[in-house]
Amino acid sequence: MIEISNLGKYFGNTKILRNINVKIEPNEIFAIVGHSGAGKSTLLRCINGLEKYDEGSLKIFGEEIGKLSEERLRFLRKDIGMIFQHFSLLEQKSVYQNVALPMQLWGYKKSDINKKAEELLTLVGLIHKKNSYPKALSGGEKQRVAIARALTLEPKILLSDEATSALDPKTTLSILELLKTINKTLGITVILVTHEMNVVKNAAKRALLLEHGQIIGLGDIESLFLKPDERMRKFLGEEDMLPEYGVNIRLYFPSTVSDKAIVTAMARELNIDFNIVWGKLEKLGENVVGSLVINVDTKYADITKNYLQTQKEIFWETI
Ligand SMILES: Nc1ncnc2c1ncn2[C@@H]1O[C@H](COP(=O)(O)OP(=O)(O)OP(=O)(O)O)[C@@H](O)[C@H]1O
Ligand SMILES: [Mg+2]
Repeated sequence: MIEISNLGKYFGNTKILRNINVKIEPNEIFAIVGHSGAGKSTLLRCINGLEKYDEGSLKIFGEEIGKLSEERLRFLRKDIGMIFQHFSLLEQKSVYQNVALPMQLWGYKKSDINKKAEELLTLVGLIHKKNSYPKALSGGEKQRVAIARALTLEPKILLSDEATSALDPKTTLSILELLKTINKTLGITVILVTHEMNVVKNAAKRALLLEHGQIIGLGDIESLFLKPDERMRKFLGEEDMLPEYGVNIRLYFPSTVSDKAIVTAMARELNIDFNIVWGKLEKLGENVVGSLVINVDTKYADITKNYLQTQKEIFWETI
């Protein structure tokens, strides 16, 4: 659906995006993650044609975005809805008028506008506020209005640029639930730009990690978060937490196995001391998975590994 190959982008003499290669499939929730200034918004703006790229190719529905006429781009953007961190609602217009606006600009019939606006305001749970003005809404409600507005032209793709960054954790979760529902029930591909790992873990199936305009990780979130390579660990800031002595071993286990049970059984069986560096349960999409990092004295590393080898439910690696 979206095919990006060897994409490069400059602002002046500075290369902002380099060698971006990724395919985003229809109907997936895909996250673009990175620290501030990594180039996330620029990449998103290249996708909807608001920003030109200098190298490589970016195809949506098989069409090269950089080669489209303004007129063709205008139609393509109809297929791509977008929401932002600060909602971008018109303050002097009511909730209903904000949602109706894109359809008015495209010259839709009044009855169609009314039907669609009512339908979408119901979907986002705000039909009872249709005559309110943005200043009377909470942040979460404003984002719901923005989502309804982004869906009016029946897009196939929804781009979200830090849409939950201005919201508290609980409201963030409710907006993510809404985006997941939209993805499922309307079959819309959702691309989430975010710097919040919880957003990625909760909502996305796959993610790419951007650092200084380059992809440093790409894949499904289970492998990105539970088996992070060195660059990913640095990115997550886990590197600093690892002891520099002994051997660090990272264990992964299904949520049905408790970390306490693993640690107790291992200590008992091997009769050795080891330290727990950290452990956590992670919710990755629908699945809960545990990971635990232990540190053992170098002289016990082999017997620990041999023991772990016999435990079928546990995956492990030294880090
Ligand atoms: N119009 C522009 N002209 C010049 N430089 C720009 C322009 N837009 C962005 N940049 C630069 O490009 C780099 C990437 O910016 P971008 O906004 O894509 O980052 P981001 O990952 O979205 O960051 P944030 O998380 O803070 O939103 C930054 O160094 C920024 O200063
Ligand atoms: Mg940005």
